[in-house]
Amino acid sequence: MLLQGKVAIVTGSSRGIGRGMALALAKEGANVVVVGRTETADQSRLPGTIHHTVDEIKALEAGKAIAVRCDVMKQEDVEALMQKTVDAFGRIDILVNNAGGSSSQASIMDIPVYRWMNVMNLNINGVFLCCKFALPHIIKQGAGSIVNVSSGAAVSNNPRMAAYNTSKAAVERLSLVLAEEMKPHNISVVAYRPGRVKTEGAEYVFGKDFNWEGWGDIHACGPSTVWLAQQTANTFTAQIVDRDNFGKTWGPRT
Ligand SMILES: NC(=O)c1ccc[n+]([C@@H]2O[C@H](COP(=O)([O-])OP(=O)(O)OC[C@H]3O[C@@H](n4cnc5c(N)ncnc54)[C@H](OP(=O)(O)O)[C@@H]3O)[C@@H](O)[C@H]2O)c1
Repeated sequence: MLLQGKVAIVTGSSRGIGRGMALALAKEGANVVVVGRTETADQSRLPGTIHHTVDEIKALEAGKAIAVRCDVMKQEDVEALMQKTVDAFGRIDILVNNAGGSSSQASIMDIPVYRWMNVMNLNINGVFLCCKFALPHIIKQGAGSIVNVSSGAAVSNNPRMAAYNTSKAAVERLSLVLAEEMKPHNISVVAYRPGRVKTEGAEYVFGKDFNWEGWGDIHACGPSTVWLAQQTANTFTAQIVDRDNFGKTWGPRT
């Protein structure tokens, strides 16, 4: 097992890509903290709960898991998340900042101000908060890995996507700056573009009748996430990586 004894936090792992990443890390022996806001299934929300993902991890009989309800947009929730992780598992080695979304598609002229703020609070301020409050613990370990989930949208000029695209461009810049700051602490920081993945969130945005040909499933990001989770600043850092190029331009040497 590649991650035996390591402790990983995966935000947004009640469903979608984050759930797939949490399962992949646990399969390699990591103790995983499953993070999201949904604790009970509810018709008014997208499917998936943090407790369901924890149950799936327990069924693997590999790494352990706990569920922590946390809104990554709230500083007090994020600080409590780090404390609960350390209380449960004693350390933090890996942080995957995956919680994010693109529910607001509107032109800059039309988008309500509160919606713009929501996208920024979730996609970039949430990443900042989780990095800021996890890092003191990761630094104590003398090495670690942070994976910030971005998107090809970071370099797209599509109309009506300014909020999402801007937030993901910011995630990529934050990742590169943080990577420089964390080199003395041997912590790898990368921005990770998962590519097209059919998730509950994507279905909500594109509709059930969308043509999903060529889209990955929620397990598609597992191998590349496991590889990134093993990296330190000494081995691989300060990169923006596409899942589609894993094993081609980056990743394990063949
Ligand atoms: N799917 C794709 O094709 C694709 C492509 C490029 C990039 N991405 C990126 O990949 C990430 C995951 O996307 P996805 O498609 O898996 O989305 P998803 O199915 O909508 O899942 C989003 C996850 O984030 C959590 N979340 C949302 N707001 C949160 C908050 N305030 N605090 C804590 N957790 C929160 C959700 O859980 P709760 O609702 O329980 O809080 C859920 O677990 C996002 O950053 C997205 O931008 C996705």
